[in-house]
Amino acid sequence: MDDARHHALDAGMTGHRPFLPYYIHIQTFMNPMTNKLLIGGLLLTASLSLSAQRSATLTIEADRGTQIIPKEIYGQFAEHLGTCIYGGLWVGEDSSIPNIQGYRTDVFNALKELHVPVLRWPGGCFADEYHWRDGIGPREQRPKMVNNNWGGTIEDNSFGTHEFLNLCEMLGCEPYISGNVGSGTVEELAKWVEYMTSEDDSPMARLRRQNGRDKAWKVKYLGVGNESWGCGGSMRPEYYADLYRRYSTYCRNYDGNRLFKIASGASDYDYNWTDVLMDRVGGRMQGLSLHYYTVAGWSGSKGSATEFTDEDYYWTLGKCREVEDVIKKHCAIMDRYDPKKQIALILDEWGTWWDEEPGTVSGHLYQQNSLRDAFVASLSLDIFHKYTDRLKMANIAQIVNVLQSMILTKDDRMVLTPTYYVFKMYRVHQDATYLPLELSCTTVDVRDGRRLPLLSATASRDKEGRVHLSLSNVDLNEAQEVTVRLSGITARKAVGEVLTSAAITDYNSFEEPDRVRPVPFKDAKIEKGVLRLTLPAKSIVTLELQ
Ligand code: AHR
Repeated sequence: MDDARHHALDAGMTGHRPFLPYYIHIQTFMNPMTNKLLIGGLLLTASLSLSAQRSATLTIEADRGTQIIPKEIYGQFAEHLGTCIYGGLWVGEDSSIPNIQGYRTDVFNALKELHVPVLRWPGGCFADEYHWRDGIGPREQRPKMVNNNWGGTIEDNSFGTHEFLNLCEMLGCEPYISGNVGSGTVEELAKWVEYMTSEDDSPMARLRRQNGRDKAWKVKYLGVGNESWGCGGSMRPEYYADLYRRYSTYCRNYDGNRLFKIASGASDYDYNWTDVLMDRVGGRMQGLSLHYYTVAGWSGSKGSATEFTDEDYYWTLGKCREVEDVIKKHCAIMDRYDPKKQIALILDEWGTWWDEEPGTVSGHLYQQNSLRDAFVASLSLDIFHKYTDRLKMANIAQIVNVLQSMILTKDDRMVLTPTYYVFKMYRVHQDATYLPLELSCTTVDVRDGRRLPLLSATASRDKEGRVHLSLSNVDLNEAQEVTVRLSGITARKAVGEVLTSAAITDYNSFEEPDRVRPVPFKDAKIEKGVLRLTLPAKSIVTLELQ
């Protein structure tokens, strides 16, 4: 990962103020120098937790709320990286793995269930080395290239523009094309847009027809470069702002297709990038992107996806929740230039980033996905829902076999990850009205000076008037009694599902694919406008109030 990103991230992580919540006391207890003091602390906290069941209260006004949660908050990202495309989404028509016109049947069906609203492609870093003309025409004639960013793997371009846009049509999702600014030309990007969206008898539309597609596709989202401060060209924001203006000028709206152009944005704590882009590009972009990973740092070990301590778990959730502060700060800058909020913030890469699984190909970013990752998903989505006046899209990285994926595949086998199940349980919030809620719960301090509420929640009302509530009890050891005061709704019962497992490190493997999966949740009652439920330790629940 490039240096600029490093520095930005490290700068945001300084000022460590390690605090020891009761879980972590146990670890430090081993230090002989502090033994005595900590024994007292440990006993005190232990007795407190024994005498009082954890409780939390919530208030929901179900007839209030004005802001819609755009379904695009549930966006996905598919890069030519490792086995995301080849082996993950695509096996080709001649494969012995069951497929629909080359797309894996099992993966396709699982994705259909998620109601994927938007899919970003072909990268990531790959996008700025991708030349779209290599990925059209007869597959056997397509040139090969080296995927320099991701392990030097040979890319045969058998999955290209047609394969991607047809997949989006089949899934019923919006395509989000990430264009090459780093190593491509203005003409190349302009012609790609023409190729995909022109209905006329234009040269690129004719070429598309020769390649078997008569009707233009609808392409709404166009990214003008990716991580232009790093793998997308190592640029400074002032220079990129001018390049954005130049490239985007020639990306035309053909035949009723209206592009929503997204400028390459900042890495997490780089507020200057957002400031310069807002100042110098302003209304020429419809969206400005942001990337935020839940990662321990860009050099050295990022930690195992499946072998971690309780302390690591709490740290992870603290780091994941810091995205709220990062979003707020980028929004505040955008508000200064664009008080009417006409330019969207697009979080087009987010999620956990762990060490690659031992024995897998280096550079392919293949990682397992435990119940901890599910919490990163639920807590992040809870936060995203709050900022949708500005935040209009988020794309988790990535859809299959890369980073915090929905799905893992191995030959002809597939497993659905705990993160997949969160996206499935939460799909009820897509395009629903966000219901502001008041939440009161216990908070603990975790490593690196962050505070972590032990309960996270979000609620929405869908177009049919149904109210859904999602709750995450992040406490590893204690159940929580939650009292939800309801107004503006006369509901008698709450039905839904719970996702939990015996250990926070549990995950779904090819040998045991159903270890972590949702089951019906029965522990909720509504009486006199008050919903009471007991959330098991480390559980995520989504309920419909009926
Ligand atoms: O998602 C993996 C990589 O992370 C992307 O290619 C890049 O944009 C980011 O650094």
